[in-house]
Amino acid sequence: MPDILILGIESSCDDTAAAVIRNRYLLSSIVADQEVHRQYGGVVPELASRAHQQNIIPVVDRALKEAGCDTGDLSAIAFTRGPGLLGSLLVGTSFAKGLALASGIPLIEVNHLQAHILVHFIKEKNELKRQPAFPFICLLVSGGHTELVIVRDTLDMEVAGKTIDDAAGEAFDKCAKIMGIPYPGGPLVDEIARKGNQNRFSFARPRSDSYNFSYSGLKTSFLYFIRDNIQKDADFINKNKPDLCASIQKTIVEMLLEKLVLLSQESGIREIALAGGVSANSALRAGVRALAQKYNWKVYIPPVRFSTDNAAMIAIAGHFKYLKQDFAGLDVSPAARLTY
Ligand code: KG4
Ligand code: ZN
Repeated sequence: MPDILILGIESSCDDTAAAVIRNRYLLSSIVADQEVHRQYGGVVPELASRAHQQNIIPVVDRALKEAGCDTGDLSAIAFTRGPGLLGSLLVGTSFAKGLALASGIPLIEVNHLQAHILVHFIKEKNELKRQPAFPFICLLVSGGHTELVIVRDTLDMEVAGKTIDDAAGEAFDKCAKIMGIPYPGGPLVDEIARKGNQNRFSFARPRSDSYNFSYSGLKTSFLYFIRDNIQKDADFINKNKPDLCASIQKTIVEMLLEKLVLLSQESGIREIALAGGVSANSALRAGVRALAQKYNWKVYIPPVRFSTDNAAMIAIAGHFKYLKQDFAGLDVSPAARLTY
């Protein structure tokens, strides 16, 4: 069988990324993040689109060079069709279409969320990695999404539960913002929490039915808690930052794990995977490992570079769609919302 060489292109939010995969082996993965949003405390869609336009050619060029190939060698070009910011998606989609047309190579549309989950099937040189056995449960936690997914096959996934309001990453970022921690706050909260006492403060946890999540009430209760305490002591945040970070992190993580345990117990599935930016969180990783001991789970946690947005995940999803000869037409358009 001839080699399958896939170029993946990701531009759904604020990272412009390109990667090349040969027969599931990663050859290159380039991610250009966008500093410009930091000063605004969140992603500014219009600025993101412009930065993608500036970044996309050099990023793709570098990914191809590092992989030692050019467009003529590619089997297909995979790109993120959605979900994400429409303007940002448009840049990646248009670029992928243009390159596919000019090079006479098939085009593959990829769902960003499905791709996050498929990172578990990327192979790296000299690495013996276990991969999840089907069916497995994937807790997909990012800045925009929080889902519990039952994965029956590489392209056969069912969303068992999801957030009804904010995503877990959003909860991290919004609580961080309340404490004056710059965007994206999640990684900094994680870092500051290491020096804190996670049992010092407790916050009201909104209830949500079945396998769904709800985080907007937690953010509000955190906001009121901080506001009340600042009235008593203007320096409350600075004096208590590590304990505040550790306590809010514990609450966000426990709310995730509670639903994960419920779904595992009710479905009988004990192959458990994490994916998405928040799966980089050290408390979540430790929490899942502790539960693995308790419930006899097999746990799969991606390396941090595959947790946050990247294009290797788009390329691996492209690989599986290529095997099914599932190609997109040149009339394909990006979709801000996309189910799978
Ligand atoms: O998957 P991702 O890179 O982009 C989206 O598709 O949203 O996820 C980004 C999210 C942000 O909310 C960021 O704060 C969060 O992941 N994040 C973390 C950590 N690293 C990234 N949250 C908590 N702890 C971390 N270590
Ligand atoms: Zn993502």
